[in-house]
Amino acid sequence: MGQKVLFFGDVGIDDTIALLYAYLSNEIDVIGIVACYGNVPKQQTANNVRYLLKEVGRTDIPVMGGAEKPMTGEVPVFYPDVHGPEGLGPITPPTNHSPPLENFFQVIPLIEKYDDLVIVNVGRMTSLATLFLLYPEKMERINAFYVMGGAFNVPGNVTPSAEANFHADPVAANIVMRYAQNVNLFPLNVTQSAIITPGMVDYIDSKGKSDLIKPLLDYYYFEFYQKKVPGLGGSPVHDAATIMAVVHPELFTFFETPVAVEIDGVARGLSIGDFRQSFEQEEFDGRPVQNVAIKLDYFNFYRYFMEIMTGDSF
Ligand code: RIB
Ligand code: CA
Repeated sequence: MGQKVLFFGDVGIDDTIALLYAYLSNEIDVIGIVACYGNVPKQQTANNVRYLLKEVGRTDIPVMGGAEKPMTGEVPVFYPDVHGPEGLGPITPPTNHSPPLENFFQVIPLIEKYDDLVIVNVGRMTSLATLFLLYPEKMERINAFYVMGGAFNVPGNVTPSAEANFHADPVAANIVMRYAQNVNLFPLNVTQSAIITPGMVDYIDSKGKSDLIKPLLDYYYFEFYQKKVPGLGGSPVHDAATIMAVVHPELFTFFETPVAVEIDGVARGLSIGDFRQSFEQEEFDGRPVQNVAIKLDYFNFYRYFMEIMTGDSF
C-alpha cells in the first residue's frame, strides 16, 4: 500500500480531482477524509465526498464532519459560481446519509494508529487548527503536512493579495503555520500553473478510467477561470497538485521560510514569508521554518497526472 494520508478538504472541484488522483494512484492510501465548509457548505462537501466514495467503490474510508465556520466567527462566503451549486460543477449528487458521518474526533484514533501518517489540507484550515489547539502532542505524530494556501509576492485569487484558503480563515491559517512542524506549502505561485487543458480532459475522458473528470472540468470551473484569468490555457487543479507532492516532491522547487498570515484589514489573508537573502528568524515570532513551493515542473506534472488518469505512459 502507498503513503497513508489523512485528507482535509472543502470538497468542490479541485479537491475532488485530488481525491480521484489519490484513488487511482497505488502510491497514495487515503485513510480518512474530513469534510469542511469552504467552496460550498459543509453538508454539501460531506455529501460530495460520500458520493465520490460510492462512485469509486471506497465507502470503507471514514468521512468525518469538520468545521462549518471559520475561527473568526463570521458567516462563511461560498463559491457556487466557481464550483457549481453543489460543488461538483454540473453534477448533482444524490443526498446520501449512509453510512453516517463520523464524529470529527474520530481523527484521533486514526492519528494514533499510523506511525508514518501525513496530513493533506486543501481547504480552509479551521479543522486542522482546532487539532493543534486541543491535541498538540498528538499532532507531533504527524510526519508532514501538505497544505494548499497562500500567494507569496504574487496576486491573490479572492482579493488583490489573498488566496481563498488563507483568506477565509486567516486565524486558523496562522495557527497552522505557527504550530505545525514540517509543512510543505503549495501557494498560488505553483498551483495556478497546474493547468489541465480541455485537450487533456478529452483524452482522459476517452480512456475511461474516470468519467467524472470531464463534467467536473468542462463547465463552471473552466468557464470561471476563462473569465477571471483570460489567457489561462485551462483549469488550475490547486488541490491535485498539492496531493501529488506527497509522492512527487521533485515536481516542486521549495524555499525555506517561516510563514505568517495577515488576519485583518485590507491585506487579510496575505501570506508573508522572508524572501530576502538573509533574515532574522525572531521577526517571525519564533515560528518554524516551512517549505514553500515556488516553482512547478509543469512538464513532469503533466506526465504524472496523465499517467495516473489514463493508465498510459507519457
Ligand atoms: O485558492 C484555491 C483553493 O481554494 C483550492 O483549495 C480550492 O478548492 C479552494 O478551497
Ligand atoms: Ca480546496
